[in-house]
Amino acid sequence: MCGIIGYIGNKKALPIILDGLRRMEYRGYDSAGIAVLERESVFSQKSVGQIGRLQEKLHDADTHGGTIGIGHTRWATHGGVTVENAHPHTDCTGAIWVVHNGIIENERELKDELQSLGHVFRSETDTETLPHLIEEMEKKYPEENLAGHVRRALLRIKGTYGIAVIHASHPDMLIAARNFSPLLLGIGTGEYFIASDASAILAYTDRVIYLDDGELAILTPNTREITNLQNVPSKKDTHTIEWSLEDAGKKEYPHFMLKEIFEEPAAIENSIRGRIIADTGQAKFGGLSEHGKVMQETKRILIVACGTAYFAGRVGEYLIEEYAGIPVEVDIASEFRYRKPVFRQGDVCLVISQSGETADTLAALREAKAKGIPVIGIVNVVGSTIARETDAGIYQHIGPEMGVASTKAFTSQVAILALLTVLLGRSREMSFDTGRRMLQEIEKIPEHMRHTLLQSTHIRHIAKKYQPYRNFLFLGRKYQMPVACEGALKLKEISYVHAEGYGAGELKHGSIAMIDKDFPSICIVLRDSMREKMISNIQEIKARNGPIIAIATEGDSEVASIADDVIFIPETLEALSPMISAVPLQLFAYHFGVLAGCDVDKPRNLAKSVTVE
Ligand code: AGP
Repeated sequence: MCGIIGYIGNKKALPIILDGLRRMEYRGYDSAGIAVLERESVFSQKSVGQIGRLQEKLHDADTHGGTIGIGHTRWATHGGVTVENAHPHTDCTGAIWVVHNGIIENERELKDELQSLGHVFRSETDTETLPHLIEEMEKKYPEENLAGHVRRALLRIKGTYGIAVIHASHPDMLIAARNFSPLLLGIGTGEYFIASDASAILAYTDRVIYLDDGELAILTPNTREITNLQNVPSKKDTHTIEWSLEDAGKKEYPHFMLKEIFEEPAAIENSIRGRIIADTGQAKFGGLSEHGKVMQETKRILIVACGTAYFAGRVGEYLIEEYAGIPVEVDIASEFRYRKPVFRQGDVCLVISQSGETADTLAALREAKAKGIPVIGIVNVVGSTIARETDAGIYQHIGPEMGVASTKAFTSQVAILALLTVLLGRSREMSFDTGRRMLQEIEKIPEHMRHTLLQSTHIRHIAKKYQPYRNFLFLGRKYQMPVACEGALKLKEISYVHAEGYGAGELKHGSIAMIDKDFPSICIVLRDSMREKMISNIQEIKARNGPIIAIATEGDSEVASIADDVIFIPETLEALSPMISAVPLQLFAYHFGVLAGCDVDKPRNLAKSVTVE
């Protein structure tokens, strides 16, 4: 997805916009652009590539003193990565400038209509229909104001948007609107900010208002008006961002991804803080409120998510079924929303999303709610769309996750699912002893993680040894199967090599045909209920000359003797071990990607949160 930012106030807009774009670059980095209103004209500059390229073009930035402007960092959906397709986009007259995050689904129909009216398009993007539509509304309804023209234009749009609009003839107005794509309003003193996420403006204010779908904000330096598209005023609460700008920085780490891997112990501590009742062996979540009872009485849980969050949900399936005895189904959101799920009385839908903005997960949530199913969320970003649309939710409290490859979010989600398992289990058959034991082991996880992180250099050596290989199989069973899939996702998304995660029991049903000396397997073989089976799988692979990297329990010399390379991790309950076994796989992917010269924080073709379908 893309990142948009807007500013109106008493300072020069350009430095603020560039700073915001840099902080949102993780959202999309194909191209970028700005537009600043100066007296009666608009100065604009755009470039392909990362923000640095735009900055090079803006070497004379300080000559542009305009105090109202907009900016955009793009993840291409419609149209190639070119300067012409970079935002902002303008109308025929160069007066109206728009930045947009989302997809206009009826852009073809609109473009044909506008071109038949004489509008000339300069780009291949869907976004460019917006300024021309606003221009057309100006012509048709000259008696109305800019806000009225924007409302009328948006009423013609089918699709998703988060937009900011400036107009050369309105030097004191910035207009923003959202539908499905996240957008927040930052409140300053004599100034307002518009941004796709808080990281872009936290340097200037931590007071924000979250716009809802169908809302429009009309801003001047000292006033704000928020209405719906029928010009009915909306009453909005002001929120305070709970994390600092420093949290969103890299600190002493070379990459966000490494920082966030090393933050995992603290992330788990923050995710479980205040949610363990040790003396009764129970767990609690304030955010569930009366829906906690709904969860405890549920007859079936439908977990829906995408990517890494989906794999965390798969771990949750094993946890909840084994320790709470509740049937669980886990679905990829993009499948759930299009198949015809059969809901039953007593179902609860649990959506998992770090960003809280993933379009497919949001659509799945809305589908479940439309069928009357209670929806609970596990989300990291406070105030995000999914967090606000679920009936109740559990925040992860792990601070911003900036690296495109999700790491601390995964282990935090598993920790929360483990606590949820105790909450559900203890209202059913789970004994006090089992509950207390599980909670005690959960509290030890951060220490186990710190111990595992000490192996980062060792893991880097292994990543270096396996640089020449271009194919990897990740294998695990039971609780480790989702971890194997997550490990494969990590490696392929940041180093672009082929990797597949598999249930090891499936090896002989096809994938073993790929194994030879050039096809290494990463096997998670812990001292757990699946150890013997996993050792057999390793032997099958070795019989075909496949190299083996083993993730094993500390002290397991037998596994060390049959693997080519081994990474030891501390022992914990089998059900909790995904929080530990994921860490070496994250580090392996990180080091492999860095050694391969990849941009591990901003991998090609990806964006941090997929707010388009
Ligand atoms: C994981 O490393 C990827 N960045 C991606 O699969 C991500 O997990 C997925 O898009 C879901 O994002 P969410 O948790 O923000 O919904």
